[in-house]
Amino acid sequence: MTSRPVIDDLSSFWMPFTANRQFKAAPRLLESAKGMYYRSTDGREVLDGCAGLWCVNAGHGRDEIVAAITQQLSTLDFAPTFQMGHPLAFEAATKVAELMPEGLDRIFFTNSGSESVDTALKIALAYHRSRGEGQRTRLIGRERGYHGVGFGGISVGGIAPNRKTFSGALLPAVDHLPHTHNLEHNAFSKGQPAWGAHLAEDLERIVTLHDASTIAAVIVEPVAGSTGVLIPPQGYLQKLREICTKHGILLIFDEVITGFGRVGKATASEYFGVTPDLITLAKAINNASIPMGAVAASRTIHDTIVNGGAPGAIELFHGYTYSAHPAAAAAAVATLDLYRREGLFERAATLAPTFEAAAHSLRSAKHVKDVRNLGMIAGVELESRDGAPGARAYEAFVKCFEAGVLVRFTGDILAFSPPLIINEEQIAHIFKTVGDVLATVQ
Ligand SMILES: Cc1ncc(COP(=O)(O)O)c(C=O)c1O
Repeated sequence: MTSRPVIDDLSSFWMPFTANRQFKAAPRLLESAKGMYYRSTDGREVLDGCAGLWCVNAGHGRDEIVAAITQQLSTLDFAPTFQMGHPLAFEAATKVAELMPEGLDRIFFTNSGSESVDTALKIALAYHRSRGEGQRTRLIGRERGYHGVGFGGISVGGIAPNRKTFSGALLPAVDHLPHTHNLEHNAFSKGQPAWGAHLAEDLERIVTLHDASTIAAVIVEPVAGSTGVLIPPQGYLQKLREICTKHGILLIFDEVITGFGRVGKATASEYFGVTPDLITLAKAINNASIPMGAVAASRTIHDTIVNGGAPGAIELFHGYTYSAHPAAAAAAVATLDLYRREGLFERAATLAPTFEAAAHSLRSAKHVKDVRNLGMIAGVELESRDGAPGARAYEAFVKCFEAGVLVRFTGDILAFSPPLIINEEQIAHIFKTVGDVLATVQ
């Protein structure tokens, strides 16, 4: 045990989704944050172009959220939610439910997006079993989908490196839709691309192959974020909904990124006018101040499972010690109030055209082969360096950080998703910095 924080020894922390040796050879450390800015340990202000990890939608260090957490921890630090309860758990669930599409008002709390995904997949199986169709166990994901890192999530996910090492242990009954990314048809789309709705029809092929009676659910991100910002083609999600309904298959929207204002509405489901049966949430649910996630389930699903059990019996054998942790719940209540009071979802919708124009100003920047956007999400895809995929975006990311702007990168795609409190000058500054940096990138 050490007696003081030692930041010159970085060896103990095995960092997630990080090239550990590369990072530790040249670390980038953040020590505080307020509003739109991080402060690095070398004393520089860094404009947050990605809301941390797509999660700090109300900006950093919000006093109301900090106060709610502090107050809660000194009042009730922990209470079990297995066979017990505490009022804030119910209040937080009611507030989340109010923001969901009509009918999706039964909320199961988790601690992360990955847990939300695995929970939703399990609820889908439990639902079919409760209605006497327990043979519906097959799950359909999509190529390039990201659904976290649980075994369920990587099985339905479609990002090859996340699956490769674990390929022998993935869920057995899974298939994948094709992804919708095609720059031949959709390069430099603003908002939803016109081409690609027909790709949803591949679900009919999968249904024919496996038979609908074996399929429990389809899970997709309405806007795919972690794979490098893939915007759904016009009509695509509607088509998925139609096919799922026709065959009695549940539709799950993974809204871990898109939930809580990112696209200018409470959910992408609301934005696109397509209502799934289950929605997975996390990240901005409480402004990422304490780990928390949730699944919003339709009343039909909830009632089928809950009313289907014998009286006095536990209806769903699933849950986490920290489901609806008091501090996380307090943070959620404070955050959702703050979103409403400050009109942050509407602000995102109002800023979206400015954000779109600024992102597309990079169209002719060096190395850029595509720009795409929706709401307060944008992706800028770079030509890959010969024999070194990802290296160019990594160099751009590091140089942007050195120039005082935090962006995300995945493969050779830069991703942007700032806090919704951002202003027009800050939007302009992010994309101007990226353009300047790209001019210097090899
Ligand atoms: C769509 C989606 N689902 C699930 C997850 C996993 O969330 P977590 O990292 O909180 O487990 C993420 C994380 O980025 C995500 O973008």
